[in-house]
Amino acid sequence: MKKIHVLYGAIIGVLLLVIAGLVYKFLLAGKTVTTEDRRTAIIMEPAERAFVLEEMRALLDAIRAMTDAVARDDMKKVAAAARAVGLAAAQHVPAAVAAKLPLEFKTMGRGVHAEFDRIALDAEAMGDGKHTLTQMGELLGRCVACHAIYQINPAAAPPK
Ligand code: HEC
Repeated sequence: MKKIHVLYGAIIGVLLLVIAGLVYKFLLAGKTVTTEDRRTAIIMEPAERAFVLEEMRALLDAIRAMTDAVARDDMKKVAAAARAVGLAAAQHVPAAVAAKLPLEFKTMGRGVHAEFDRIALDAEAMGDGKHTLTQMGELLGRCVACHAIYQINPAAAPPK
């Protein structure tokens, strides 16, 4: 009887280790190397990199549309442009891409999308362009912070 308990214990222990390993690999670590400029390069297939970069360009375009709308005092447009890249827009990241992103990257990315939603809500509720600009300044700080840490695939070697 005792021997069987020990055996069960060992099996459960091994399974827990496997689960912990899987959680680390798929949820926490992502797939990365350290680059020459000491940023962390996330390793991705070309199509996956293209997906992320397209999302990034959409973020920049939202910032452009929001800046333009604030300048013209069109707070409805500010809200629409911000909401277009809010959390709802971030739901369709393919599982293969998500698995390669470190947890910290996903947390920062989610925070940025959530901030766009908050800016949209405030623009509608307050209609105060100066407040929007203050929020956008803080938001751009988050873009800068992530770009300082991460890159996608190590840069190619310079031509000889
Ligand atoms: C969670 C991390 C993260 C956040 C937050 C983030 N970015 Fe990026 N962004 C990246 C990475 C990584 C790259 C690829 C850089 C590289 O490989 O050199 C990138 C690239 C870009 C590019 C280049 C796209 C291309 O086609 O080459 C633009 C533009 C961009 N980001 C805009 C933004 C803007 C605007 C924000 C904020 C509203 C933002 N990003 C927030 C990680 C982030």
